[in-house]
Amino acid sequence: RLHGVKFTIRCLVKAEFLRKGLKGITTLSQPTHRMYLTHTDGVSSLQLATELEEDHQKIVGAIKSLQSLGDIVEAEQATSSRWELTAEGSSIVKNGSHEALVFKAVPPGEEGIPQPDLMKATGASGKIGMSKAIQAGWLKVKKEGGVTKLTRTVESIVDTVKKNLEELEKGTSTVEANVINDYKKRKLMQQVTVTSFIVRRGAGFTTTIEKQETELTPELIASGAWKTKKFKPYNFNALGTPLAVGHLHPLLKVRSEFLEIFMEMGFSEMPTNKYIESSFWNFDALFVPQKHPARDDHDTFFLSRPAKTTSVPEDYLERVKKVHSVGDFGSQGYRYEWKREEAEKNVLRTHTTAVSARMLHKLAQEGFKPSKFFSIDKVFRNETLDATHLAEFHQVEGVVCDRNITLGDLLGIIKEFFRRLGIEKVRFKPAYNPYTEPSMEVFAYHPGLKKWVEVGNSGMFRPELLLPMGIPPDVRCHGWGLSLERPTMIRYGIDNIRDLVGPRVDLQMVYNNPLCRLDKH
Ligand code: PHE
Repeated sequence: RLHGVKFTIRCLVKAEFLRKGLKGITTLSQPTHRMYLTHTDGVSSLQLATELEEDHQKIVGAIKSLQSLGDIVEAEQATSSRWELTAEGSSIVKNGSHEALVFKAVPPGEEGIPQPDLMKATGASGKIGMSKAIQAGWLKVKKEGGVTKLTRTVESIVDTVKKNLEELEKGTSTVEANVINDYKKRKLMQQVTVTSFIVRRGAGFTTTIEKQETELTPELIASGAWKTKKFKPYNFNALGTPLAVGHLHPLLKVRSEFLEIFMEMGFSEMPTNKYIESSFWNFDALFVPQKHPARDDHDTFFLSRPAKTTSVPEDYLERVKKVHSVGDFGSQGYRYEWKREEAEKNVLRTHTTAVSARMLHKLAQEGFKPSKFFSIDKVFRNETLDATHLAEFHQVEGVVCDRNITLGDLLGIIKEFFRRLGIEKVRFKPAYNPYTEPSMEVFAYHPGLKKWVEVGNSGMFRPELLLPMGIPPDVRCHGWGLSLERPTMIRYGIDNIRDLVGPRVDLQMVYNNPLCRLDKH
């Protein structure tokens, strides 16, 4: 019978330990074999741990390792719960219960001890120990000349709590359930769940462990060894090693979706690699009057070094100055004293329309041809920060120029753009921009929020802006812009901008978030 299932399993587990170079395994010639004779169809890892005097976790490791070798053993998971002493419970086993400690601190005889002295002598055990000792009838309270004193009512005590806990720790207890429950309430014990395994002989059971081949090599074929060798089965459940690759931030994921839509619609990208712009391109070229509130330092970040731009196209500057101050090309202008110094001030660009202005000017200078441009990049505004606003964000902007296009074309292209983003319902509301006329805010219906939300701004660029650049008079130009942050936050369910941008961003969020696929059509 010693060569029964359990015995051999035990040998195998031991062999696994030896193979792994784990020490501390006792020999097999121990009297514990007797235990196996009583039941033969499986052994629990917990039992093995006791018998082999090994850590249970190590036994489980060995079983798993045996399991991975194929069908040598079968292991079935089992859970059981067991009581364990808490730190307080263990300290009682070591030093005695609170009530026993308090009892010991009270001197025998009628004299007793004043309560404050007793408390001092027994520290943390004092309060609870005293009440338990009184409850147990070991001590009594008496008042003597205004002093509360405690005296013994019995000569000796039996510390049952300590005794019970000792037994419970050894697992040999006959302690009743309601007592255990009481100890649990007193936080002396806690129940822990143990996961163990019942091991049985597998179909391919053997007592010799042969290393399994992981690959069929030319050598194995040539030598014929493949006929007798054991092969390790493929583990199709293995997850593979995570690749140490970079991850795109959600903003960049959504950006690449926008980029694709623009590309599909035949737009080409504008160079946006300049965060610093002169006021000239950011405002003046766009026919924003120099006293416009947006040019105030409450709304715009001005640079102190270098405070001024060094180059502005002189002839074009003259035409811009004229159209602002006295009017031109059939416009009466704003009629104010336009100042070069104001236009030369460097700013952190407040919109990507500054880049569009440069592109339209370049287009006119190089000889006009119908064009569609887009950009997606960072802009800066000196705004009050809150949950949805930072002083920097990204703008998505599209610009279309062609001969004789109308407001209808703008409505159509914006509808198409949003349709490709998966937004079917858009509405327009008249608005005002110094550089476009007419101007329209764009609203989209949000099926989740069940309401219309503002998604962008748009308009037909004014002749006061196009004609000084040299754009032919029959050419119309329109554009629209939106933020990148807003759709990203909606898409990824982020409601605080600080969770998306800035020092509080959780890199794990960047790592975990899925690819962005807008429901494009
Ligand atoms: N520049 C505008 C904004 O900042 C967007 C816009 C672009 C409007 C092009 C009209 C035309 O909101």
